[in-house]
Amino acid sequence: MSSLSSIYKTTIITAIRQETTGVKTFTVANEDGSEIPYTSGQFITFIFNHHGTDERRSFSISSCRELNEPLSFTVKRIDNGSYSRLLNDKAQVGDKLYLTGVAGVFTLPRNPEYYQQYFFFAAGIGITPVFSLIKALLHTQPKAQAVLIYSNRWQESVIFFDEINKLAEAHPDRFKIEYLYSTAHNLVRARLSKALLPVLLKEYGKVPKPKMLFYVCGPYNYMRMVNLSLEEQGADSEQIRKENFRPFERPRFTTEPPDQRLHNVTVKFDGKEVSFTCQYPETILEAAKKNGISLPYSCEIGRCGSCAGRCTKGKVWLSYNEVLMDIDLKHGSILTCTGHPVGGDIVIEL
Ligand SMILES: Cc1cc2nc3c(=O)[nH]c(=O)nc-3n(C[C@H](O)[C@H](O)[C@H](O)COP(=O)(O)OP(=O)(O)OC[C@H]3O[C@@H](n4cnc5c(N)ncnc54)[C@H](O)[C@@H]3O)c2cc1C
Ligand code: FES
Repeated sequence: MSSLSSIYKTTIITAIRQETTGVKTFTVANEDGSEIPYTSGQFITFIFNHHGTDERRSFSISSCRELNEPLSFTVKRIDNGSYSRLLNDKAQVGDKLYLTGVAGVFTLPRNPEYYQQYFFFAAGIGITPVFSLIKALLHTQPKAQAVLIYSNRWQESVIFFDEINKLAEAHPDRFKIEYLYSTAHNLVRARLSKALLPVLLKEYGKVPKPKMLFYVCGPYNYMRMVNLSLEEQGADSEQIRKENFRPFERPRFTTEPPDQRLHNVTVKFDGKEVSFTCQYPETILEAAKKNGISLPYSCEIGRCGSCAGRCTKGKVWLSYNEVLMDIDLKHGSILTCTGHPVGGDIVIEL
């Protein structure tokens, strides 16, 4: 059995830019100077050693592949945070970072021309994947309308303020922005709330609701409020894409797979192939780890998409999934961190 432990890639920081106080953008390349492939809106996961244990942190990509921008990600310094402080306070151009993968499904839809108007709800550092997506959308979909509702404490903390405004100037008929400041004197337009959201939807909405697609990224309570409000306004859950930066609280699993027998799992990755056995309650990811096989992952609870792959033979049952849409599942997408083989042996491509 060969091992996939060579999946960690060395990357080099090629540029660092201060955005706002405590927020920096890092541009990275492969060790040989070549560009790292990615899809706009995805995230990158690094591995680092913290007090003797390997830890992982993910960062959304703020650059846009469609504009040929080299992979950049933007990090907010968390006061007592280990990795965000290391990056913000110590990292220099030329430093090496160890990449476990680029992943995520917070990307433009498979059928972007179907939707006529895209609403982006972002709060604070939640702008990072949204900025990447807005650039990609405006560049690739000449008929699409975009609206950004961007919440911050005050204007000084708005990340990418100048770039976003320039995009609006370049696309005056297609891109509208509503900046919301929680410190604003006009309390009616300060925090985004269940009362304000329908008002903004009415003000900016130009097409029938089924032709709208919504992207949401920000703190947990903000995302929950936006999601509930959009559903109350008649949005279908398939129309709401969410990126959760703190996906680590373990959800409760209430169902069990229809088949709990031992099955063989074959994983194809980076031109290699490995096989191992897996039996419920062990997940595919846990079985791989037990066999000394390193697969990509981050949250391990079905909430980030780092471990997503495609099942090309057999069937995988997911105990939990907050990232894959029905259309992804129909195309065979699976998560190894909450996935269990059912009904026979399986083959997965990562
Ligand atoms: C899919 C995904 C995309 C992400 N994208 C970005 C991004 O684009 N930019 C970015 O800056 N971060 C992003 N994050 C968050 C990032 O991965 C780290 O969680 C964050 O940088 C803190 O890591 P740390 O090691 O500094 O803090 P830790 O050492 O892990 O935590 C230290 C303390 O900070 C708290 N804490 C941890 N994370 C956060 C947080 N996000 N907000 C507030 N408090 C926190 C912890 O509860 C703890 O008390 C993303 C996370 C995910 C899962
Ligand atoms: S590791 Fe996050 S969804 Fe599987």
